[in-house]
Amino acid sequence: MPTETVYGLAGDACNDAAVAGIFALKQRPQFNPLIVHVTDAAMAQRYVAWNDTAQRLSAAFWPGALTLVLPRLANCPLSLLVSAGGDSVAVRCPAHPIARQLIAAFDGGIAAPSANRSGKISPTQASHVRDEFPDSDLLVLDGGASTLGIESTVVDVCDGVASILRHGSITAEEIRAIGVAVEESAEPSSRSPGQLLSHYAPSLPVRLNASQVNANEALLAFGGAPLSGAASTLNLSPSGDVVEAAANLFAFLRALDRPEHAAIAVMPIPESGVGVAINDRLKRAAWR
Ligand code: TXA
Ligand code: MG
Repeated sequence: MPTETVYGLAGDACNDAAVAGIFALKQRPQFNPLIVHVTDAAMAQRYVAWNDTAQRLSAAFWPGALTLVLPRLANCPLSLLVSAGGDSVAVRCPAHPIARQLIAAFDGGIAAPSANRSGKISPTQASHVRDEFPDSDLLVLDGGASTLGIESTVVDVCDGVASILRHGSITAEEIRAIGVAVEESAEPSSRSPGQLLSHYAPSLPVRLNASQVNANEALLAFGGAPLSGAASTLNLSPSGDVVEAAANLFAFLRALDRPEHAAIAVMPIPESGVGVAINDRLKRAAWR
């Protein structure tokens, strides 16, 4: 299903077989839990124990790119697999109209990790999903290119304190601006196992903070003065806008990831606003 962040591999979050099928298709490690997508806070409360912080954050940012990790209700009907056997659930209310219609028509939580094989680049177009799983009989709902292009911000609010587990489209500053205090974990968190270092990996090596281009390198440029000499160049944002850069990031990484190039050189991206999430994804793409 399309969402405004990235495409998701969707299944009934209460159905063990459906959720197991998602893990199998993605080849995702079973210790990495899934996000459950809901239409609103009321649907989320069928599954998780709500609190004041969740209420304030959902009122400000839902529908939108904010995922809240909360305790499972004692009699939670969700598959235990969505929690990877743990006692919390990540819930998110997407803004994309097709995702919203799908969840509303189904009238229940939909588990959906990003629709890529585990460790690979997240898809932001329907064609990326088909390319990722060429041999499966997936039904791909084509909702156009994802407008935000980078995944949701994952915030643990289990104990009422907001702690960022994954940087994403919604920034820590935006959360603080509504008066909610935020803890940012510097380390990839074991509480959010998806935050392993190697992730979002193209086949080619990725070289960050490039100030020159080497022989046969492709260039992922940013801003008004792209480096010269690249075998192929795509500019994330000629005007230097990090929001535009986020929307282009995964599609451009896929497009440059071609065997005729030696590597992908990436120009520096400012560490401000959604630039924090972009740099987080690029670091993981470069790690090997
Ligand atoms: O924008 C998004 O969030 C997209 C779209 C499809 O909604 N989904 C997505 O799902 O990015 P996925 O599975 O690729 O990433 C989910 C992240 C992982 O880092 C996972 O470890 C973390 O959320 N997560 C899920 N459930 C969790 C939980 N109960 N506790 C802590 N972290 C959790
Ligand atoms: Mg993912």
